[in-house]
Order: sequence, then C-alpha cells, then structure tokens
Amino acid sequence: MPENHTVAVIPGDGIGPEIIAEGRKVLDAAAHRYGFGIEWVEHDIGAERFLATKQLLTDDDLDSLSEVAAIYFGAIGDERVPPGILETGILLRLRFALDLYVNLRPVRLLPGVVTPLAGKRPEDIDFVVVRENTEDFYVGIGGRFRETDRRTLTVERELYELTFSVDAESDADEIAYQIGVISREGPERVIRYAFDLARRRRKKVTSVDKANVLTEVYGLWREVFTGVARGYPQVTSEFNFVDAVTMWFVKNPEWFDVVVTPNMFGDIITDLGAMIQGGLGLAPGGNINPDGTSMFEPIHGSAPKYRGLDVANPLATIWAGSMLLDHLGEHEAAEGVLTAIGKSVTAGVTTRDMGGAAGTRQVGDWIAKELAKR
Ligand code: IPM
Ligand code: MG
Repeated sequence: MPENHTVAVIPGDGIGPEIIAEGRKVLDAAAHRYGFGIEWVEHDIGAERFLATKQLLTDDDLDSLSEVAAIYFGAIGDERVPPGILETGILLRLRFALDLYVNLRPVRLLPGVVTPLAGKRPEDIDFVVVRENTEDFYVGIGGRFRETDRRTLTVERELYELTFSVDAESDADEIAYQIGVISREGPERVIRYAFDLARRRRKKVTSVDKANVLTEVYGLWREVFTGVARGYPQVTSEFNFVDAVTMWFVKNPEWFDVVVTPNMFGDIITDLGAMIQGGLGLAPGGNINPDGTSMFEPIHGSAPKYRGLDVANPLATIWAGSMLLDHLGEHEAAEGVLTAIGKSVTAGVTTRDMGGAAGTRQVGDWIAKELAKR
C-alpha cells in the first residue's frame, strides 16, 4: 500500500493562494511519480477570515493542525489589516503554539541561478541557517510608558543610571521597551539540532550572536553552545558576531556549513542569505518541531501588490514543498523536486524577478511536467 500523507494547507493572503496552488501541483506530481499519496486539508486562516469574523487562529484550527503530518503555508499580510496583527496572531502564534522551535533556512545557489556575488558558484554557496524560532525578542514582552502611567522608572546597570524627567505638557519623554528572553532549554535544543545536522554535512557549526553587547541573553546562548559543542568532537565550531557575519556571508559564503542563531538575528541574516542565493523569490524555510507537526513556507511575504497578476515567483514555495517531502521521509521525491526546480531555471522558465518572462502558473506547470517524465 503506498503511504498517504495528510498535509494541512494554509494559502493565506496576497500571492499566497497563487504560489501554494503551484506548490500543490508540483507536490501532487511528485507523489504520483514516486508512488505515495497526499491528502490536502485546506484552511481559510488569514486576512479574509479575520476581517469577516475577527478570528486569527482558533483552538479548533490548532487542534486540527497539530494532528496532520505537516503544514504547507503560503503567506499572510494584507493592506486592510494594520501591520503586526496577522503576523503575530497567525504566523508567530503557530510557531509558538506548535513549538516549531527550529526555523530551517537553506541558503543554496542552485545551478543556473544568478547570484549578485561576483565569481561565486553553486559549490561556494551551500549552507543552512538554523534559526531559533520561539524565544529572544520575539516573545512579545514589553510596554510603552508616558509620564501619566509612569511614576518612576529607573534603569540601573553597572554603567548607566537613567531616570526620565516628567513633563506633563509634552510626550517627548515617552519610552518603549521590549525584552529578549533566552531560556537554557531554548538554545540547547536548537543548537543540538544544528550539530546533528552538521554531522550529516560538512561538519562545521557557526554560532551567530552579539554576546559582546547583549551579554546576558547571548552570554547564556554561548554558554549552552559551548556545552553542546563538547558532545560533538568531530564537528568544528566557532562564534561570529552578527554584524561581522553579514560581511562574511557576502565575501566568503563558502566558509559556512551550518549557522545557528537566535530568533531575531536569524530573521535578519536569512533575508541576506536569500539574496545571495538568488533572491527572496527563491528562499524556502521549514518551521520544525522534531517531535510534532512541522510547517513549511516561502520566507517571503504576501506581496499584495502582485496578487492575482500571475507574476509571483513560485519557486520558494515549491522548494519549501521539497523540504516538506523530505521531512515526511519522501527523500527521493524531495530531491526530484529540487532537481526539477534547477532544470526549470536552466531552461529559462523563470518569473520576471529572475529575469524571465514566465508566469507563476507556467513555472509550476513546467516543473510538474518535468516530474511526470520517466
Ligand atoms: C520571517 C518573517 C516573519 C518573522 C514576520 C512576517 C513575522 O519575516 O518569517 O522571516 O519575522 O519571523
Ligand atoms: Mg523575515
């Protein structure tokens, strides 16, 4: 009996439904070719439902999403909803509620893809960013104060003592703060994941942080990293500061194999990673809970201005689909999808962000057809 995988799908907003349609098309073609089945369970989570019902993510959504083998996620974000509401209420909530503590983002230059880095070839750009996905500055702890709500707020550190003056006539003294939280368990599990991954690759892990300034949170991160690294004597490890790593990604991407980093820096450096691998239209990500349901998505957003125009690049979503298949244990199919993506690029069947003239659907059709070839 061929295996049947149940996959939840959240097309979302903007270009989400269009790119997810191509992803499903390609994954169905891969399932047919490699002899397994995918049963899709569609969810209407997103801006449209939020505007109609005020619901972001319901308990029912979470119950049903936690039962499937994997989630295929398009994009969320809509110009009719103020920024932050859908992002935190849906995407970040899913990452937290399902404890998707690994955000896995490959940075890999596929053959035929043009990188803005002069002289770099596919063998030079092939690393993976393992971004911690549940802590750090994403925990949402913070507040804003005006003198009316704030009687005294004193921040004392070894180097500074700050007190804020009260001026009832102006709001010039308004302050906001938001804090990052790192638990011992947070880095522990994600760093372990990074080392396990490196063991199957080129055996090098780079920790990216800012322990020279944010000494408490990233001091703990480094301490945990050092402890975990001791258990992997066959893997080389190193520390980089995040500002420096943005230089090295551009100058010497070949230095990197597995990069592990706290949530916020992971967010930032993976957009840089996306550019060096050929653009945001090509960058996939997996939000992984190794013991539960995982979710796969393009790392770009919903790009509402391109909605319905058949111009969005579906490759990031299709590549995320390949990661999803890999996660389900369909390794051959995952590799097949990635190879077919590379062939479509080499054949020049690309959307205009990659210099081509093909539409979203045309790219999906081409790759699905390629997979059907024997
Ligand atoms: C990403 C995105 C999200 C993030 C946003 C949309 C909340 O930028 O997945 O990288 O910051 O994690
Ligand atoms: Mg981001």
